[in-house]
Amino acid sequence: MPATPEIINSLQTVIEQLSAANSDKQRQEIIENGHIGLTELGPFHHYGSSGYGRNLIYTGAEFEIILLCWQPQQFSTPHDHDGSLCIMQCVSGELIEQRYQLQACADNHCILSPTELMTLSDGQVTSISDQQGLHKLGNATMTAACSLHFYFPPIHSANAYSEQDGGQKTVFSSFTSEYGVKIAETESEKVQLQVVR
Ligand SMILES: [Fe+2]
Repeated sequence: MPATPEIINSLQTVIEQLSAANSDKQRQEIIENGHIGLTELGPFHHYGSSGYGRNLIYTGAEFEIILLCWQPQQFSTPHDHDGSLCIMQCVSGELIEQRYQLQACADNHCILSPTELMTLSDGQVTSISDQQGLHKLGNATMTAACSLHFYFPPIHSANAYSEQDGGQKTVFSSFTSEYGVKIAETESEKVQLQVVR
């Protein structure tokens, strides 16, 4: 069902307000008060064929907006945000966020120590920067879930860490859809979908 003009306006309003914001606190308040629901995000609501869906909604010089769509039991790997601030809102279902602190690293292998474990449900907003640590996200339920992610500034790569051995690798952004249009996944993109952000 196509989004109504009123609903489209609320997403556009949030984009305009974020473009004028001048503090991280203000940015988070705008997102919390934006009340963007999954209904209006319908054109961007796609699941990945081999990992969680990553749907690019908006990108500009100052920030980008991505809708992540999680089937039951899909998780990211632990990752940083390449210096960007990530503000995320759970727009449907329930997600878990496990945070970590990075300990010693050697030969591209790092020790991660788990810190907070949080549950996010409809409408809740949280944020993370590299100064606060790393995190992984996922859907531990048996119902699909979606989260709306705002990155200040846009990030194109990140460091991901294996939960098995702490192995570090650089991963690059790839998308299930861009601006509402599904795109073909290459084999390499399918792999990246599992580990980015
Ligand atoms: Fe993230």
